[in-house]
Amino acid sequence: MSLVLGIESSCDETGVGLVRDGVLVGEALSSSMEEHVRFGGVVPEVAARAHLHALVPTARAALDSAGLKLSDVDYVAVTAGPGLATALQVGLAAGKAYALSLGVPLFGVHHLAGHIAADTLANGPLPPHSIGLVVSGGHTSLLKLGDLARDPIIHLGDTADDAAGEAFDKVARILDLGYPGGPAIQRAAEGGDPTAITFPRPTTGRYGFSFSGLKTAVARWHAKHSAGVPIADIAASFQEAVVDVLTAKAVLACTDHGIDTLVMAGGVAANSRLRAVAEERCAAAGITLRVPPPRLCTDNGAMIAAVGSLLVAAGGEVSPLTLSANPSAVL
Ligand code: KG4
Ligand code: ZN
Repeated sequence: MSLVLGIESSCDETGVGLVRDGVLVGEALSSSMEEHVRFGGVVPEVAARAHLHALVPTARAALDSAGLKLSDVDYVAVTAGPGLATALQVGLAAGKAYALSLGVPLFGVHHLAGHIAADTLANGPLPPHSIGLVVSGGHTSLLKLGDLARDPIIHLGDTADDAAGEAFDKVARILDLGYPGGPAIQRAAEGGDPTAITFPRPTTGRYGFSFSGLKTAVARWHAKHSAGVPIADIAASFQEAVVDVLTAKAVLACTDHGIDTLVMAGGVAANSRLRAVAEERCAAAGITLRVPPPRLCTDNGAMIAAVGSLLVAAGGEVSPLTLSANPSAVL
C-alpha cells in the first residue's frame, strides 16, 4: 500500500489529492479564480501569490478529508509543467519540501498526463491504447496514448492559436456573460438554438484546431446583428461549432489509428453538450468514450496523485530534488 500526495499549481487552482494504489482517498482545492475575474483571464503573478497562501492549508485539508497525517505519505507527485512559470514554481517548491522533509521520493508530473489519469480515478485502469482529447483553458491537444507510466504520449494535434477553453472565455467576454466563460456559455446556451447561426469551423491539418477565427466571427456577428437575437442562440451556436470540430477530429484520430477508446479530459470536458455529442458520435463509430466526472475534469491535485500512483506501480523514474518547472513542457 503506498500513499501518493499530489500537488497541482499550474494555473489558478491550488489542488492537493491523495491516492492510495489508484484509489482516491482525499482531496482539497482552493481557487484564485475570483481574483482574476476583473481582468477577464488568469494573471500569473496573482495566481502565484494565491498558491503561496493556499498550498499548505490545502494540503492539510486534503489530509484531514482522508483522516491521514503528513507522515502517512509515501510519495510526492507534483506538476512540473506545462503551465504558468511562477505558479508552477510554488507547487514544485512545496512538493520538494514535503519530499525532502518526509524522506520520500518525488515525481515530476506532466499536467496533460494528469488530466488523462483523472479518468482512472473514476473509471478504472485505461486500456493499453487510447486517444486522448485534453481541452482546457491552456490546451487543445489530441494525444495518442499507451501506458501512461511507461510510454511517451504522442501529440497528434494542437490548436494553432486559442485553446478551446480560451475561446469559451473570450466569447463569454464578448457576450458579457462573465468569467470563467465555459460554464457561463453552457448556461446561456440552455434553451438556445444551436443551428440559429452557422459559425465557421476552422481547423488546421488533419488533427489541428484553430479557434481564434471563430471567436472573431462571433464578435463580428454580435456587433452587427445582436439586436433582437437571443444571447441563448448565439451562445448555443458558438458552443455547437466548438463541439462539432472537437468531436469530429477526436473520432477521426480514433478511426485513423484503429483505436476504440477516447478519453476526454480538461475543463472543457465538463461541458454537457460536448459530452452528449461525443457520446453520440463515439457510439456511432463503435468507440468507447471515457470522461471523468466534471469535478475531476478541471485542474485538481487528485489527477497528479493519480499519475504518481501509476508511476509507483510501474516502478517509474523518480525525479531529483533539483527538478525545475518546465512551463512549456512538450511530451
Ligand atoms: O482544466 P482547467 O480547469 O484549467 C486549465 O488547465 O486551463 O480548464 C479551465 C477552462 C476554462 O477556460 C473554462 O472556461 C473551461 O475550462 N470550462 C468549460 C466548462 N467548465 C470549464 N468550458 C466549457 N464548458 C464548461 N462547462
Ligand atoms: Zn489543466
